[in-house]
Amino acid sequence: MSIRFCEQNKTFYLAGKEYSYIFRVNDEGYLEHLYYGKRLSEENLSWMFEKMHCSFSPCYMEWKEISLNVIPQEFATYGRGDYRIPSVLIKAHNGSRITDFRYKTHTILQEKPAILGMPTLRGGETLVVTLEDKANALELDLYYTVYEEISAVARRSVIRNGGESAVSVLKISSFNLDINRADFDSVALYGAPTREREIERTSLSHHICEVSSTRGASSHQANPFMVLCDKNADEYNGEVYGFNLIYSGSHSIKAQATEIGFTRISGGINEQDFSWLLGAGESFETPEAVLAYSDSGFNKLSQQFHDLYREYLINPNFSYKKRPVLLNNWESTYFNFDEKKLCDLIEKAKGTGIDTFVLDDGWFGKRNDDWSSLGDWFVNRDKLPGGLTAIIEKCRECNIKFGLWFEPEMISENSDLFRAHPNWHIAAPNVKACKSRHQWMLDFANPDVVEYMKKVIGEMLRTNDISYVKWDANRTMTEFCSPYLPTERQQETAHRYMLGVYELARYLTETFPNVFFEGCAGGGGRFDPAMLYYFPQIWTSDNSDAACRAYIQYGTSMCYPLSAMSGHISICPNHQVGRVTPMQSRMDMASFCATGYELNLHALTEEDFLKISSHITFYNGIQDLILRGDLYRLLSPFEGNYFSQMVVSKDKMRAVFIIMKMFAKCNDVYPFVKLKGLDKHKYYSIEGMGTFKGDVLMNVGLRFPKNMKDFETKCFTIEAVET
Ligand code: DGJ
Repeated sequence: MSIRFCEQNKTFYLAGKEYSYIFRVNDEGYLEHLYYGKRLSEENLSWMFEKMHCSFSPCYMEWKEISLNVIPQEFATYGRGDYRIPSVLIKAHNGSRITDFRYKTHTILQEKPAILGMPTLRGGETLVVTLEDKANALELDLYYTVYEEISAVARRSVIRNGGESAVSVLKISSFNLDINRADFDSVALYGAPTREREIERTSLSHHICEVSSTRGASSHQANPFMVLCDKNADEYNGEVYGFNLIYSGSHSIKAQATEIGFTRISGGINEQDFSWLLGAGESFETPEAVLAYSDSGFNKLSQQFHDLYREYLINPNFSYKKRPVLLNNWESTYFNFDEKKLCDLIEKAKGTGIDTFVLDDGWFGKRNDDWSSLGDWFVNRDKLPGGLTAIIEKCRECNIKFGLWFEPEMISENSDLFRAHPNWHIAAPNVKACKSRHQWMLDFANPDVVEYMKKVIGEMLRTNDISYVKWDANRTMTEFCSPYLPTERQQETAHRYMLGVYELARYLTETFPNVFFEGCAGGGGRFDPAMLYYFPQIWTSDNSDAACRAYIQYGTSMCYPLSAMSGHISICPNHQVGRVTPMQSRMDMASFCATGYELNLHALTEEDFLKISSHITFYNGIQDLILRGDLYRLLSPFEGNYFSQMVVSKDKMRAVFIIMKMFAKCNDVYPFVKLKGLDKHKYYSIEGMGTFKGDVLMNVGLRFPKNMKDFETKCFTIEAVET
C-alpha cells in the first residue's frame, strides 16, 4: 500500500518508488506539510514545526501564537496571516475573499476518478482529503495519486460551493508544496518558435520566480514545467524535484524562498484574467499536476516523468506501439502542390520503408497561402480535382498509408465558415480581433462550435481512409472574450476554450481509435502532458536542423519521453537556419525520436536517397528502445561542444547511442564518453568498435576521433553478448 493514515498522529504517509510524502492534520485542523524527499520509515514527525514563531506574524489564535505564515501547508489560504503565494482566492457573495479551510474527512480510492472534461493520469492509488470552510460553505477536495514503481505523485484540487449564492473563484492551484529549506536552484524550459525548450537555471531567491504563460496555450515560451534542485545538482547528482502541469492553456508555477527558510511552490491555471462563477451546489476542478522526485540528479527525474507518461498518460493503444514513419509534404511543397506533385512524391517513397504519407496545410477550401480558408474542411478541387480519393488511391498503390493535416481551432476571415458564422471566433465586443498568421481562433468556449467541428472533421475521417491526423494550432489567444458567454462569465473564456479543445480531442480520438493523432502548435508551442494524453506524439519544433534539434530534443527530454517527440529529416540548406549538415547526422538525430521525412525526395542526391532504406531499417530496429527504454543524457550541447545520449533497455541487454560534435576544432582533444545504465558485469558488443565490459564502458568510456567534423554524428547499437 502506498498511502497510509496514522490515526494517532493524524498523519498521512504517501510513498512511491524512492520517496515519501508526509503531511498531517494539525491540532487546529490545518493540513501541515511535513516531508517530501528520499523514502523514509513511517515515523512520527508531528514535532517538526511545533511552536515555530516569527515576529510580527499575525496569529489566527492569539493565545497560541501560531501563524499560518510559518507553517508549511498543503494548500494555502488567503487573508489569514499567510503572506506567501496563496493557493486559492475566492470572492464570496458578500465581497469577502478570506477563506479558512480545515480538515473534514478523507478517503483512499483504488480506482482513480477522472477529471470532468480534462486529461488525467490513469492508475495508482488515490487519497482524497476534504477540507471545509464553514463560514463560506465551501468544500475543497485535495487529490493525491501515488504510483508504487515511480517516484511521482499527482495532485489536483476540486472546490465545491455548498452555499446558496454563487461565488467567484479568482484563483485555485492544482498543488501547493512548502519545503523546509530555501537553498534551491530552479530550472525551467523557456523558448521561442523554432527554439523550443532551452534549459535555463537560476538561483531561487526571496522574490517570486514564475514559469507562466498568459497566451491561452502552454506556449513555446514557457513549458509548464519547473525544477527545484540542490545548488550543485547535475544530471547524476543532487536532490531534484520536478513539477509539471497536465494542462495546455495559460498556466503558472510560482516558487519563492521565504524569510523563515522555507520554499513555497504552487501551480495551476494562470490567475491573470481568470475568474469562474461557481453557482450553488457547483464544483470546479483544476488540472492535474505531477510532482516527481530524484535523489540523484536530473536524469533520474526525467526517467520518472518518462515512465509515468508512457505507462499512465499516453493512450495505451499507442504508447508502446511502433510509430508510423512519415513523409510529410510541407517543406517540400508548402502551399504549392497539385495532384501530380503529390503523387510523384508518393511514388518516389514507394519501397523506401516510409509507411505513411501526410498531406499538410493547403488541401482544403481555397487555401493557396495562409490568408484564407481555415474552417472550410472540404477538399480544394482546383488543386486536387480527384479529391483525397486520388491521393489515397496512389498511396494504396504504393503500399503507403495516408495522413491528413487539420487546424481545427482556427478560422480565416476569408472563409465560408466565417461568412456563415461571423460570431464564432474569440473577440472582444466592438473591437476587431488581432490576427496572427492572418487567422483568428474559433470560440471553443461555445459548445456549438465544438459540435460543428466534431461533425465536419468526423465526416472527413469517416469517409476517407485516413490513418494519421496532424492537429495543428498556429496562433495564441488575444482579446480573451467569448461572444457566446454571458458578461459575468467572460473571464472563463480561456479555460473554457481549452475544455472545448479537450472535448473535440476526446471525441475524435475515441470515435476513431485506430487513427494515430500527432499534436502540433506552430512547431512545439503546445508540448505538454495534456496534449500527450490525446496525441501520443507531438511535433517538437518547426526547426528540423540537426544541430538545433540537439538542443531542442535535449531540453524537451528533461520532462518528456523520446517517443513523444517527432523529428523529421529535411533538406539542406535547412529551411529554418540555412545550415548544411550531413544527411547521416539528420537521420541519426531523427532516430532518437518518432522519425519522419519532410523533404522533396526528388531533390536528394542518389547517394542520400539510397540511405533512406537503411536509416528506416536501423530506426525500426531500435524502435523498442525509443518506445520503452531508459534515457541517459551524457553530454549537453548547452554546456559543451558535444551532444550525446543513449537509451538502454530495461533488462540492460541492448542500448542505442548517439554523439554529435557541434563544431570541429583543430587539434581537438579525444573525447572519452562514459556510458550509463549498463550492467557492469555484462559484455557488450559495439559494431565497428569491439566488445567491452559494462564497467569499462561506464568508467573508462568510449573514445571517439578528435577530428569529427561540424555536426558529424556517430550512432550505433550496443548489444550484450555471451562470453
Ligand atoms: C506549422 C507546423 O508546425 C508546420 O509543420 C506546418 O504544418 C505548418 N504549420 C502548416 O501551416
